[in-house]
Amino acid sequence: MKKPQTRREFIIKSTLASFAIPILGSGLISCKSEPKEETKDSETTLKKLNILILGGTSFLGPHQIAYALSRGHSVSTFTRGKTKPSVYSELFDQVEQLIGDREDNLKALENRKWDVVIDNSGRNVEWTKATANLLKDNVGMYMYTSSTGVYYPYLTDNIKEDTKLVLEMPEGLTENEKYEQEYGVMKANSELEAIKAFGKERTIVIRPTYMIGPADKTDRFIHWPIRLAIGDEILVPGKKEDPVQYVDVRDIAEWFIRLAENKQHGTYNGVGPKTAQTMQQFVKEAAKAFDVQSSFVMVDDYDFLVKNNLYYSVPWIMGGEKNYGSARISNSKSIEAGLTFRPLTQSVKDTYDWWNSDAITKEHRQKYEDNPNTLLSKEKEMLENWKAIKS
Ligand SMILES: NC(=O)c1ccc[n+]([C@@H]2O[C@H](COP(=O)([O-])OP(=O)(O)OC[C@H]3O[C@@H](n4cnc5c(N)ncnc54)[C@H](OP(=O)(O)O)[C@@H]3O)[C@@H](O)[C@H]2O)c1
Repeated sequence: MKKPQTRREFIIKSTLASFAIPILGSGLISCKSEPKEETKDSETTLKKLNILILGGTSFLGPHQIAYALSRGHSVSTFTRGKTKPSVYSELFDQVEQLIGDREDNLKALENRKWDVVIDNSGRNVEWTKATANLLKDNVGMYMYTSSTGVYYPYLTDNIKEDTKLVLEMPEGLTENEKYEQEYGVMKANSELEAIKAFGKERTIVIRPTYMIGPADKTDRFIHWPIRLAIGDEILVPGKKEDPVQYVDVRDIAEWFIRLAENKQHGTYNGVGPKTAQTMQQFVKEAAKAFDVQSSFVMVDDYDFLVKNNLYYSVPWIMGGEKNYGSARISNSKSIEAGLTFRPLTQSVKDTYDWWNSDAITKEHRQKYEDNPNTLLSKEKEMLENWKAIKS
């Protein structure tokens, strides 16, 4: 059997794809969050924060900004000025936009004070080391956006925050494994640099799993909103017991801000859904976002999926020894610390609406829909072949 594509390789490809896609600045749609009941009450007594976001204009950042502004905080962003937000672009007039480059120009951050810095754009250990050291005497708290990728290889169940991480590249990895491991090692060491500079009591590390929702330009989840909106007979890859994990980007974004407000510290997995879910349960629940008739054909033979080059369709990732626990990560500490989850139907519907809004160019949509390698394009033929084998 051909080696399944690893989760990291997939992320890298998705990330590269996201950088290559032109982004239309666009005010938008129904991705606004209603303040939750329990947070409304505390707003009157809330201390207003000055927040610096390293990044802020792609996927997670705009949602953090929208929520922070809605709670009266002020926000500065630090970017190269290249990426334009595809959600909440109208709010950026209220944001101080600092320009520089994490690679070699941090001047705009010098001699400035903030209550909190959120490091979203940290994809290099040296970058985090440099910003954390530059800001440690002028900023109260460092929040580092890490990833559940730090747990690679995912060998066990119920992976918790205190799991020992791989901090150096091991020998003897395949090319695919190397991609995945390098990302994990980079994130794990970046976490340590933030903690080294700010100290444990002033650092929050969030490790999200796959984030879904409006403004995700990686195209890795969009299959499900598009496909479920059509209905009819739908191919679902994976074995009956294959677990899935994902989290709405807005749940993560809002939780970041509340953690900052509460001056919490520590390391947390940013993982949903609230309780364990299989791929089968995921599609059945997600389908409720649309008022169409659907039936599901579970294609549970990994060899067949490999033959058809289908190794993932996020949130489903083909299992394997090193991927065993990638969707078995514990969220109990995070729930305790205030992570909440909106309904999956809302995530799916809002992502669908965003995809069909002017936030995405017609060309982008067309490129995805015409790509012969997507499950969307391959599904019909795969279903025919699958039924032929099964009959
Ligand atoms: N997406 C997921 O499912 C997922 C899962 C787990 C973890 N994560 C992590 O979540 C984080 C969030 O990423 P995001 O893209 O959504 O964050 P974001 O804050 O919305 O945007 C990232 C920003 O980084 C800026 N940037 C890129 N290179 C830069 C440089 N050299 N110097 C200064 N700024 C630079 C970009 O603007 P310019 O291009 O204008 O510079 C952009 O604003 C990442 O650390 C990622 O590893 C993501």
